[in-house]
Amino acid sequence: TNPLRLGIAGLGTVGAGVVKIVQTHADLLAARGGRPIRIVAVSARSRGRERGVALDAYAWEDDPVALARRDDFDVLLELMGGEDGPAKAAVEAAIETGKHVVTANKAMLAHHGQAMAEAAEARGVALRYEAAVAGGIPIVKALGEGLAANGIRRVMGVMNGTCNYILTEMQARGADYAEVLEEAQRLGYAEADPSFDVGGVDAAHKLALLAALGFGTRVDFAGVQTEGIDRVTLTDIAHAEDMGYRIKLLGVASMSEAGLEQRMTPCLVPVDSALGRLAGVTNAVMVEGDFVGATHYEGPGAGEGPTASAVMADVLDIARGLIGPAFGAPAASLTAAPRAADAGA
Ligand code: HSE
Repeated sequence: TNPLRLGIAGLGTVGAGVVKIVQTHADLLAARGGRPIRIVAVSARSRGRERGVALDAYAWEDDPVALARRDDFDVLLELMGGEDGPAKAAVEAAIETGKHVVTANKAMLAHHGQAMAEAAEARGVALRYEAAVAGGIPIVKALGEGLAANGIRRVMGVMNGTCNYILTEMQARGADYAEVLEEAQRLGYAEADPSFDVGGVDAAHKLALLAALGFGTRVDFAGVQTEGIDRVTLTDIAHAEDMGYRIKLLGVASMSEAGLEQRMTPCLVPVDSALGRLAGVTNAVMVEGDFVGATHYEGPGAGEGPTASAVMADVLDIARGLIGPAFGAPAASLTAAPRAADAGA
């Protein structure tokens, strides 16, 4: 059978993890995808950097857009990050040249997801982004497929591993904010620009994507009221603990007759609750559907293995021929939801 051929743009934490899975699990991936999965070409900023994986078997491109335009692979894995710039240009070039796209880039999709989904669907290729939301938790598949028969009422949760790690470590060992942030960067959890993590922007990107997927509306990142954890102090955490609460960066997206409400803010949650107990780089997402009721998903929200696992799940879907619309319904049919705050204005 025809192998599914991959081009990988970006060999940072996530890209290196993807190469490891492909090299470690060749047989398992071939069995589950129904065809061999092969990496053909790669690109990254620095060729010489030590990544702990052998790249000699793959063609090298310095320029991700040149990579995206090659005619010797089927799926571009965009693992560079960045809202605009080379990531966006590479994805556009891949779609234009008829390739499927798998991306972990929530910032790009929060801003350009609608246009990219329309372009992909017009070209008959897939645009998939499981790895963009909540790391290793298959929440995009849960919302887009497993719960697809439900009217979704509410999506909420902890969607940034770095923030949850920082808050947990500050609470558990009185660690200094800046010191723990540095640790999260060293462990490969944080974004290239960590102000996106601690400012709540990264989590807001993810919430906007889940809201679009759940409610069948256009991505409305500008409509997310966002506040980060950058002003949370050890004193805040200690006072909360005294009253029986923990501080979590919590996102809520809900749809009611008043419209769509999206909020990503630090919240108090009871110490003795599922969210209160959520420690380390873990994410948790809750989805309420009208027929299924309340469902809960929990798992590692960032880092090499979990994020690469999500990327490869999308690759396997494409290998199996599952190339449906990015947001659960044809992108051209999605309409803007009225914002709850605007209602009656
Ligand atoms: N920086 C992100 C986080 C990575 O900490 O959750 C996963 O999107």
